[in-house]
Amino acid sequence: MTTIAQIHPTLRYDSVARSLHWLIAILVVSAFALGLLVDMFPSSWEDGVVNAHKLIGVSILFLALIRLFWRVGHAPPPAEPTTAFLERASSLSHLALYGLLIAVPLIGLAFAAWRGQGIDFWIFSIANVMAENKVLARQIGGIHEIAAYILIGLAVLHAAAALWHHFVRKDAVLMRMLAPK
Ligand code: HEM
Ligand code: HEM
Repeated sequence: MTTIAQIHPTLRYDSVARSLHWLIAILVVSAFALGLLVDMFPSSWEDGVVNAHKLIGVSILFLALIRLFWRVGHAPPPAEPTTAFLERASSLSHLALYGLLIAVPLIGLAFAAWRGQGIDFWIFSIANVMAENKVLARQIGGIHEIAAYILIGLAVLHAAAALWHHFVRKDAVLMRMLAPK
């Protein structure tokens, strides 16, 4: 097991993977908070808040795709030695996180479209080309909400696991995702 003090540069994720990881993490928390808190803003702000939510959500989709393409050409550092169970749990949770980073925004886009809404990018906007459908919008809206809760729940477990590795197991797993000092 590599200890925190020993970590070598080749055992870290590269700077592009690290930057994308933390940027996506911040954007996911922001999108989730805006989605949940939209009703707490004054009603004159509501459209702006929902649009900011959609823009952040679409950015997450693009950044997650870029991250996946980058990963194909730039393999992550070799895994920290651990039990077969933890290794399997870690790969499955990463796979599920990637899946949800793509699925939640796509479901959100369908939700907005069936509500009859486009997206306002302030300097230009994308009109909705799909026919409004209130029944489907309500159903897909519920799915969007549940999928977003699963994404955040999994991200919290994932962050707790990273902190457990760092503070309890005292291995180098968290340092792999941090820039060298
Ligand atoms: C990872 C990205 C995203 C997350 C975590 C997320 C999360 C959420 C959450 C938690 C809600 C509140 C659900 C509720 O209380 O009913 C919500 C609402 C909503 N989301 Fe998303 N969302 C994301 C991406 C998107 C995208 C890309 C779009 C569309 C382009 C979108 C469209 C909407 C709309 C239209 C609402 C309803 C807002 C309102 O109350 O008027 N979301 N989202
Ligand atoms: C919404 C928030 C987050 C998302 C969506 C997310 C997603 C991911 C994904 C998909 C990976 C796999 C990277 C790969 O191998 O290609 C990963 C790795 C990692 N994440 Fe996160 N993450 C989030 C937040 C956090 C937080 C808050 C921490 C730290 C407290 C953290 C620590 C790590 C570490 C240490 C790794 C590398 C694990 C390893 O090498 O086995 N993540 N994350």
